[in-house]
Amino acid sequence: MFRVLPVLIAAVLAAGCAASGGDEAGGADVADGTGPITFATGRDTTAYLQPLLDRWNRAHPGEEISLIELPEEADEQRAQMVSNLQARSDRYDVLGLDVIQTAEFADNGWIIPLERGRFPLGTFLPQVVDTATYKGKLWAVPYTTNAGLLYYRTDLVSEPPTTWAELREQAIKITKNHEIGGYAGQFLAYEGLTVNFSEAVSGQVLSPDGGRVTLDPARAGAALDFLRQGVTEGWIPRNALAYKEEESRLAFQNGELAFARNWPHAYGPAREKLGDRVAVARLPGPDGPGVSALGGLNLAVSAYSKHQKTAQDFIAYFTGPDNQRRVLTEGSFAPVLAEIYDDPALIRRYPYLPVLKESILAAKLRPATPNYNQLSLVIASAVAKAIGSPSEQSTGAVVTALTADLKESLNPQ
Ligand code: GLC
Repeated sequence: MFRVLPVLIAAVLAAGCAASGGDEAGGADVADGTGPITFATGRDTTAYLQPLLDRWNRAHPGEEISLIELPEEADEQRAQMVSNLQARSDRYDVLGLDVIQTAEFADNGWIIPLERGRFPLGTFLPQVVDTATYKGKLWAVPYTTNAGLLYYRTDLVSEPPTTWAELREQAIKITKNHEIGGYAGQFLAYEGLTVNFSEAVSGQVLSPDGGRVTLDPARAGAALDFLRQGVTEGWIPRNALAYKEEESRLAFQNGELAFARNWPHAYGPAREKLGDRVAVARLPGPDGPGVSALGGLNLAVSAYSKHQKTAQDFIAYFTGPDNQRRVLTEGSFAPVLAEIYDDPALIRRYPYLPVLKESILAAKLRPATPNYNQLSLVIASAVAKAIGSPSEQSTGAVVTALTADLKESLNPQ
């Protein structure tokens, strides 16, 4: 208890210093400011970023960028960025923002609006620019996009399932005949589970502005039953209830699962481990191909950065065509540059590109609201409990309680 005090005092002092620094920093001088910058973004799990940053650094002496790796998980990344920005610290210049964070960061004045003409927005896939736009202004520049995909083992699956019923049937058969788990996604209570649930209800949880609950009880019930059934019947291994992206990626590539829901960045490493025994398909849905959530990372400039011109020049460079190719070839991430998905040479090398493009184009955005994080926590914790303890509450009761809790979060009494 007593050890907390000095830490608190130090934090308050640091916040005070940073605050005055931030205030002085405001205005035209920082907008034109050039010099060394930092790039704060989630942990680079495939270790591809530094060489890309080195290319910029070699060409921009005096304006070098250094990488600050934040935690791997979406909610923890947000928490670290928020505490830094609330303290008005100038430690982060370029922020790697999850697409769901634009509204919150813009609304709080933590990032600066950007001039559209400075960035190659017209070359990007449709929709991705919407994730960086809020109240008519551009607040960030799309860097990678994302859509959930179904990974499967070609040596065990002859035709990938397009419906949940087919997935269940195949998973049951495979787990019976082979020493392997059936299916997993991201089922721990955090943003990843909100994504898995949103996909299962085709994005219908909240209205696009996050102001209304749009959850359809029948759809939500079917989605929960599908996942609950997986756990009770054993084709979703129980340890998958603790999976985030990394755990599910590793389980699949280590041969522990026949099917997995993950983002495209799991493809490169899985191919390295499993070769031709891995392929991807659209996510299955209740009665045909399902709907992915549109994910991705946008690059924003901190309002407290002292070198905002360099930060914006770097963003223009990093989202440009040359680097966008490297995002795919070096990082196995989904680029935002549209032409990449139709490049025959790249399609030969990455046969999953057409499926990925289809999934991205059909993907649904999560709502753009400053209190997204709070709403998402409500969803993730209700869904985690429902899948983890299927006998505790009927599916109908879970959906009723979740709907009431979301309404309460939107309009607290
Ligand atoms: C990925 C997505 C991001 C999503 C997160 C959930 O990083 O790009 O949009 O919020 O996963 O875990």
